Amino acid sequence: MNHRQVIIFDTTLRDGEQAPGASLYPEEKVRIAKQLARLGVDVIEPGFPAASPGEFAAVQQISREVEDVEICGFARAVESDIDAAVRATRDAAKRRLHLFISSSQIHLDFQLRKTQKQVLQIARDMVAYAKQFVDVIEFSPMDATRTGMEFLLEMVEAVIAEGATIINLPDTVGYALPEEYGAMFARVRKEVRGADRILLSAHCHNDLGLAVANTLAALQNGADQAEVTVNGIGERTGNCALEELVMVIATRQEALGLVTGIRQEEIYRTSRLVSQLTRSPIAYNKPVVGRNAFQHESGIHQDGLLKHRATYEIMDPERLGVPRHMIVLGKHSGRHALKHRIAQFGVTLADEELDALFRRFKVVADEKKHVSDDDLLALMDAKGHEP
Ligand code: KIV
Ligand code: ZN
Repeated sequence: MNHRQVIIFDTTLRDGEQAPGASLYPEEKVRIAKQLARLGVDVIEPGFPAASPGEFAAVQQISREVEDVEICGFARAVESDIDAAVRATRDAAKRRLHLFISSSQIHLDFQLRKTQKQVLQIARDMVAYAKQFVDVIEFSPMDATRTGMEFLLEMVEAVIAEGATIINLPDTVGYALPEEYGAMFARVRKEVRGADRILLSAHCHNDLGLAVANTLAALQNGADQAEVTVNGIGERTGNCALEELVMVIATRQEALGLVTGIRQEEIYRTSRLVSQLTRSPIAYNKPVVGRNAFQHESGIHQDGLLKHRATYEIMDPERLGVPRHMIVLGKHSGRHALKHRIAQFGVTLADEELDALFRRFKVVADEKKHVSDDDLLALMDAKGHEP
């Protein structure tokens, strides 16, 4: 099968940083950007240059120092924002500008207080303005998924005519269902004049827990690019999580016909760095990078794993750089798991001794919930089973 490579556009440092309490200093942004480049993302959106001098400096330094990755300057559809984004990204080896303006009626009425006609004109004018400076122009009609289809198609066609080369359709408030979101991409590709010569991009928020599913639906309906953040950080409940999307594609490559250029062995390190610098802890049960993602407590699962890893694991944690400690000893653990763990201490017991240790182990497991290696050593010690 001929697999299509998805463009991974990382917005951890722009949309991700909008997560409450996740603000980063410029030097922290540079550290993360260098790690994102090692991870193998295709595009980095390092911030919002017009937002503050620190943001401008961070985008400028990343444009100068981070190699082998395209840098995206983010701007409202306003000349002064575009000017700042053009200046901040000037030294990047490869760059694009990303312009946005709201398109949904609710945003037009209450936020912009403008008519569709006025917004359409601003979008046209600002894309034409930006095009004088940079060839690659990405345009986002914000709140695309709550925008009437007729107006959305009109706006997309208008900005393509002015020179936009990438159209991003954001599900700004995480409202779309996968089928609807996929259908929107199929319609834009089919019905918009000029859509055959541009790239389409998906940008999903996770308010209903559908960001990854929606992004996949877009990719299956012709999107070329996925906008993601590490650990899924972002406004409210966050954005499509890079590590989840990438591992869905890697694990179900044949079913999806897609690949990415991400280096899996850098995923865990990147996730830890972003969590630490943004002070955003990772939920224990978070797919791919959560503490429990590769730990197993049930005796039946532990037994299967000891016979063959793939019985209960669909991804290889070692490939992701996750430290390996798959078996958690507790009240659900079986004799086989206990035998395996004490063997790791170099202890082999006769059957009756193992039975006796197993009975004492279950008593401690009921009391303590989780039997640590220290607890286990103490249990063995009590009966003279020196490791
Ligand atoms: O969620 C959103 O609509 C955005 C756009 C500005 C791209 O982040
Ligand atoms: Zn967003």
